[in-house]
Amino acid sequence: MVNKESILYANFVLKDLVTRTPLQQDRYLSEKYAANIFLKREDLQKVRSFKLRGAAFAIKNLPKEKLVNGVVCASAGNHAQGVAYTCAELEIPAYIFMPTTTPHQKISQVEFFGAQHVEVILIGDTFDQAAQAAKQFAYDQQKTFIDPFDDEDVISGQGTVALEIFETADEEEIELDAIITPIGGGGLVAGIAAYTKQTHPNVKIIGTEPLGAKSMQAAFEAGEPVSLAEIDKFADGVAVQKVGEKTYKMAKQYVDELVAVDEGQIASTIIELYTKQAIVAEPAGALSVATLEVIKDEIKGKAVVCIISGGNNDINRMNEIEEKSLIFEGLKHYFVVNFPQRPGALRELVSDVLGPNDDITRFEYIKKTERGKGPALVGVLLKDTTDYAILLDKLKVFDPKFIDLNKNETLYSLLV
Ligand SMILES: Cc1ncc(COP(=O)(O)O)c(C=O)c1O
Repeated sequence: MVNKESILYANFVLKDLVTRTPLQQDRYLSEKYAANIFLKREDLQKVRSFKLRGAAFAIKNLPKEKLVNGVVCASAGNHAQGVAYTCAELEIPAYIFMPTTTPHQKISQVEFFGAQHVEVILIGDTFDQAAQAAKQFAYDQQKTFIDPFDDEDVISGQGTVALEIFETADEEEIELDAIITPIGGGGLVAGIAAYTKQTHPNVKIIGTEPLGAKSMQAAFEAGEPVSLAEIDKFADGVAVQKVGEKTYKMAKQYVDELVAVDEGQIASTIIELYTKQAIVAEPAGALSVATLEVIKDEIKGKAVVCIISGGNNDINRMNEIEEKSLIFEGLKHYFVVNFPQRPGALRELVSDVLGPNDDITRFEYIKKTERGKGPALVGVLLKDTTDYAILLDKLKVFDPKFIDLNKNETLYSLLV
């Protein structure tokens, strides 16, 4: 059973292991949305995400004989770091299964936190294959598998985020109206919602998912967890194909509203959090703040908590994040343009089609042979979104058959 008591107990068990993270009023966001916005800074948690809470409570709660035998998990991300950190603290063995495609930086973080206590097993091409191997290994070796979200102890551990939020809010006499929490497999939202509804039932729970991985929304619609055929992996921490059985039931019972946020909006929010507040958020960690933009009319004048759930942002992804943001903001555009077969056509494009503030960011002939005569991929960065309509009008004159790649997902993913 996950309830207020199980979460209070988790809080007691975790108190020496996890950091009590700050709940900060954010002036910039409060002014932007004419609301009172607070950030729960789980990016400042040890291992830089709330995931430590659930993993640590599930492990610490195991009977002694199971503990010494070691635990198994499958994860390419924050759950693995939480398990590794806990096992190093408790000096017990951890077997962490990761897909062979896991970036080296993530493997080394897990090895760093777990030191000599963890063994990383790279297996399978996908997370699902690694998870299957991990479960089989746990079964064969009679070791305990620590689920990333669909487990009552894990959910109770994540629920301690809400307990801390209300402790701080009550101390500072802040009357909260809503908590926005990201949803991957649903462990965090289930724990937060259970605690909130049992202690502060009037506080609204808003669960949020990326547009390309709305697995909780799909479960609500189907009346049970269902597997999404395809997901957008941009917000990797929350890009989950299927939510848990337990987490679904709890979300159904307690969550007031589900929201979906465009991945481009998440990318813009990561950049904004970094430049305006010096907060490093990973995509899943920025999701709750990105949600404010989607529900801005609903939150005016309200006291709202956004959970910055994680800060493990890989610096190598910054180009991808910036590109996604610029496209979402309508500033970066890609076209396939056919060049008339006469000299000076390229100069014409620059002088007749581009405006004074438009920059060419990419130019590539698409054909390998007779390149100069074939179509070209052209990337353009605008200073202002209003310049787009002018650019399109001029492009139509230059090449009536041009293709706007931002509007063609398949061609975009092939060419850009
Ligand atoms: C940073 C971050 N935010 C949110 C989530 C989603 O948590 P849950 O799977 O419990 O819904 C995760 C899960 O790994 C995460 O790493």
